[in-house]
Amino acid sequence: MTEEAAHAIEDGKYAAAPAALGDGSEARPGVVTAPVLDACCGSRTMWFPGYRDSPLVEFCDVRDEALFFRERGRDRVVEVRPDTVADFADLPFPDGSFALAVMDPPHLLRAGSGAFRAKYGELGEGWEGDVRRGVSECMRVLRHEGVLVFKWSEAQVPLSRVLAALEWEPLFGHTTTKRGTHWMCFVKGVSRRRGHAQEATGP
Ligand SMILES: C[S@@+](CC[C@H](N)C(=O)[O-])C[C@H]1O[C@@H](n2cnc3c(N)ncnc32)[C@H](O)[C@@H]1O
Repeated sequence: MTEEAAHAIEDGKYAAAPAALGDGSEARPGVVTAPVLDACCGSRTMWFPGYRDSPLVEFCDVRDEALFFRERGRDRVVEVRPDTVADFADLPFPDGSFALAVMDPPHLLRAGSGAFRAKYGELGEGWEGDVRRGVSECMRVLRHEGVLVFKWSEAQVPLSRVLAALEWEPLFGHTTTKRGTHWMCFVKGVSRRRGHAQEATGP
């Protein structure tokens, strides 16, 4: 975490403020109380309606914007409105903040100029390092035994290339070699770190 992000946490800027935690507790400045993190939420299309605006989820993205484009002759808009604008490679949350994190990063090297770019963004130069840092940051902000769910669509880049770039190994996912969309799971304290037998235990 950068010094700037650490100060922001001290200032309470990144304190999640869920109205209903369900256990009667109140959000305190400087304390992240949402148990779930979406590290790059985009327009939240993968979320079921009941959770899309849940105060128990901290929605982050590197952009906060509305994009207008035409698709099949119709005017469309994609809105990306995160709770917190943040780079997944440098998350502004303390270690051990979340029980569950999900990361669905851009997966296209060439997204064109329409709907795909608006919804999903594009992989930039050095994307492997960005995705590696993003996964490592998600693991850092997870509690001990917290779970990271990672999604990757192989439309343009094979999963093997992404996995080779990561510092952590997933426990399970789609083991089929058929190209498609892959969901996989990392657990803090269980997933292996490259060059380490196992993550250190502890919070
Ligand atoms: C594949 S889309 C996510 C789609 C989303 N899961 C949904 O349900 O609509 C990837 C998102 O990652 C965001 N993104 C790209 N680079 C990022 C970064 N460094 N930190 C955080 N978000 C990033 C993009 O702005 C884009 O909204």
